[in-house]
Amino acid sequence: MRGIKIIGAGMYVPEKEADNDWFSTILDTNDEWIYSRTGIRARRISVDKPNFYMAGEAAKAAVKDSGIDPSEIDLVLAATCSPDFYYPALSCLVQYETGAVNAAAFDINSACTGFINALDTASRFLEDGDYRNILIVASERLAPHCDYTDRTASILFGDGAGAAVVTHSDKPMWSYLNAKGDYFKALYCKVDHSRSNCPLLGEDTVPEGVIDSEAKGHFLQMNGKAVYKFAVEAMETAVHKVLDKSGLGIDDIDLYIPHQANSRIIESAVKSLGLPEDKVYVNLERRGNTSSACIPTCVAELRQAGRIKDGMTICLVGFGAGLTSGAIIFEQ
Ligand code: COA
Repeated sequence: MRGIKIIGAGMYVPEKEADNDWFSTILDTNDEWIYSRTGIRARRISVDKPNFYMAGEAAKAAVKDSGIDPSEIDLVLAATCSPDFYYPALSCLVQYETGAVNAAAFDINSACTGFINALDTASRFLEDGDYRNILIVASERLAPHCDYTDRTASILFGDGAGAAVVTHSDKPMWSYLNAKGDYFKALYCKVDHSRSNCPLLGEDTVPEGVIDSEAKGHFLQMNGKAVYKFAVEAMETAVHKVLDKSGLGIDDIDLYIPHQANSRIIESAVKSLGLPEDKVYVNLERRGNTSSACIPTCVAELRQAGRIKDGMTICLVGFGAGLTSGAIIFEQ
């Protein structure tokens, strides 16, 4: 049977806090507008630490919490959409930082759904017994992606990293993963090739209508309304699908950990799904949306607070650029 157990968790949060009042000094915005639309009061910005540093710190904390030796890790999976390098993969740097000398390593990029996809992948690697301990780290440094003249998008995002060490369990697990590539333009950040000095390179051409001229910008581009609508529907669908697979009902879940994009998105989905509010964990008020790092930082906080206990049935649900979405139910 496919099942996972979280045996360690850790996180890294950058020191610098950028609150809504700071945004009102650089943009035509204010705390009231941002908080009422998003539930966010502040987010952390990694001023001078690269993504791999944050990922390494979170990963080391998770390995320490697990009590295993780094040499016992068989695979490092890193979820990120904001790496420091095109290559090598962030997971290779984390392998180095943690001393996981016997591990294989590769990355997963499904933006904010990254931790869900990585956990699902990990469970399948663990299933046949060939891999015993897997370190998953989800880490994002989104500040360099954001356009700080764009008041609609830049106020949402923060930097940070979360990690978990998982091992096989005989307890059940179910997952539902989805992608809608036809909506990719709702949220994207294009690679900037303008610094190339290859004398042969011209401007990229693609078939008419596939990508718009804005896509030349190397900043994160977002259609907020389209993403909002998708996010609420995607959360509802993913939770329904994974509950259907499991045969469990809404009340059989002890803890729901949603992607922390926006409290209005979470509240809306929670209401229409009829989830008990006291079982839904939200920590975005002083963190903002840290993309793939949101869910594992929630896991690390909850575990540290003793709120993740053996035998609990936990539902993780995420959505993001792609547009991707997914949900996992597992018994810890
Ligand atoms: N401060 C003040 N005013 C702002 C503003 C800001 N930070 N951002 C936008 N506005 C303005 C707009 O310019 C617009 O003004 P106008 O009516 O004069 O044109 C007005 O507020 C309403 O803008 P709108 O885009 O309709 O706001 P909204 O209610 O849709 O909220 C988001 C915008 C981005 C908060 C919302 O669409 C959202 O949360 N989308 C999902 C984004 C997300 O979660 N992305 C990550 C997914 S992983």
